[in-house]
Amino acid sequence: MPTRLSRSPRASAPTRSLRTQHFLSVVDLTPSELGDVLTTAAMLKKERRARVAGRPGASALQGQHVALLFEKPSLRTRCTFEIAIRELGGDVITPSQDVAMGEREPIADVARNLERWVSGVVIRTFEQDRLVQFAAAAPSLHVINALSDEEHPCQALADLLTLQEHLGDLRGRTVAFVGDGNNVATSLAQGALMLGMHVHLATPDGYEFRPDIEAQLTAGARLGATLTTFRHARDAVRGVAAVYTDAWTSMGREAEAQQRRKVFAPYQVNEALMAAAGDAVFMHCLPAHRGEEATDEVMDGPASIIFDQAENRLHAQKGLLMLLMGGRQ
Ligand code: CP
Repeated sequence: MPTRLSRSPRASAPTRSLRTQHFLSVVDLTPSELGDVLTTAAMLKKERRARVAGRPGASALQGQHVALLFEKPSLRTRCTFEIAIRELGGDVITPSQDVAMGEREPIADVARNLERWVSGVVIRTFEQDRLVQFAAAAPSLHVINALSDEEHPCQALADLLTLQEHLGDLRGRTVAFVGDGNNVATSLAQGALMLGMHVHLATPDGYEFRPDIEAQLTAGARLGATLTTFRHARDAVRGVAAVYTDAWTSMGREAEAQQRRKVFAPYQVNEALMAAAGDAVFMHCLPAHRGEEATDEVMDGPASIIFDQAENRLHAQKGLLMLLMGGRQ
């Protein structure tokens, strides 16, 4: 059980127990808090599957409204946050994209308005700095990063929960990320290194983690975890427990798509690469460009756990919301 949850979770919902007011990055959590979120998520998943009456989280967000402010498209993140908030007893508002934060009015003014109406805001946006500005302007709000150009921490929570389900204790295991050293790779690496996992990153020249990010990742590694970069995908995947890839062209970089298809072609995850990995599971955050970063055979093959990841977006975000906002009235 998480260290700061009630001893009897069915008797009462846990109260807020994270030090951080916001969740803009995985590194806003301590390794222990990250473990608490994952344990809470696993508990909520079990209770939901068992259809337990009076589930522990059912009133955790009672009386609270949460705004979903999305400046980019989404299927998984939007749906799972809506369901998560409602299942925890809260209510959701979904302002439309014509809020045009920073254009129609300053980011800080949007934040100060929402602060008067809601307790939390889940934001999908462009530069991470937009989230930082928003959070600084409305300190009583809980701001959650639902993807920025730099990080995708909610995806990482779901990925780590999924890895725990399939591998058990993650300490000493290795995940290889093959492709672009993007926002998904960054957040995955942050969380995995905090939990003692080794991380391999295989990218073309110029698509590695920025040196400052690599330094931050290495500094955050615990329990002997290491980060190693590779130029060749085959070298990166040999003997790992999980192979992870993502679209070669992230949202907002569509103009580079043609060039990226050429550069990333040797990094496709196909049956030959999975065979080189051995007994690894295959992961993808979705949406995928099937036939580009991964083939249908791998996406739909026996090693694929991509839809477990998608399901776990719901449970992981419920765990986060419960510990970040639960019990706040
Ligand atoms: N993985 C992910 O964030 O999916 P969406 O873009 O559909 O939300």
